Amino acid sequence: MKTLSLIASGAAVLFSTMAFADSHADVDPAVTARQAHMQLYAHNLGILGGMAQGKIDYNPEMAQTAADNFLALANISQATYWPEGTAEGTKAKPEIWDNMDDFMSKADDLAFEAEAMADAAGTDLASLQGAMQGLGGTCSACHREYRIRDN
Ligand code: HEC
Repeated sequence: MKTLSLIASGAAVLFSTMAFADSHADVDPAVTARQAHMQLYAHNLGILGGMAQGKIDYNPEMAQTAADNFLALANISQATYWPEGTAEGTKAKPEIWDNMDDFMSKADDLAFEAEAMADAAGTDLASLQGAMQGLGGTCSACHREYRIRDN
């Protein structure tokens, strides 16, 4: 019995490793790139948001660095991140490809607000807080329409 269950668990490990390898082999590099880009937004926005909410002490240099990083990211073209046929298995809604102009205009809105944040973040806390809502709003405006919600 013991041997049998060992074999069974060995097989289960092997099987799950294979499934893992398979799921990664199938991922389009553009999907990896766009998700990583989103993570970089989230990282830099997290610093700015943490300061805006008083969870991180306001520090003008750190705020400016995060805002400059954010602006640089926002100015990277997303054009090659969303090839047709890459919705499956991701959180990207198929509607993106029927509304590409609107989708890209939402990325432009983000770049516009990122500019305002880069002007404000290093000035003082009140300026950073003032720019925060506009910037954060551009994430949710796009996610609301084009990203599948976690349940
Ligand atoms: C133009 C539309 C758009 C904008 C603007 C946008 N996102 Fe996204 N975001 C998406 C879509 C679509 C996905 C799902 C992508 C996928 O699963 O391939 C996503 C996914 C993510 C993810 C998950 C990435 C992963 O590892 O799977 C994070 C985190 C994220 N966005 C953060 C942000 C933040 C923070 C902002 C604002 C600063 C933002 N996004 C702005 C469309 C957008």
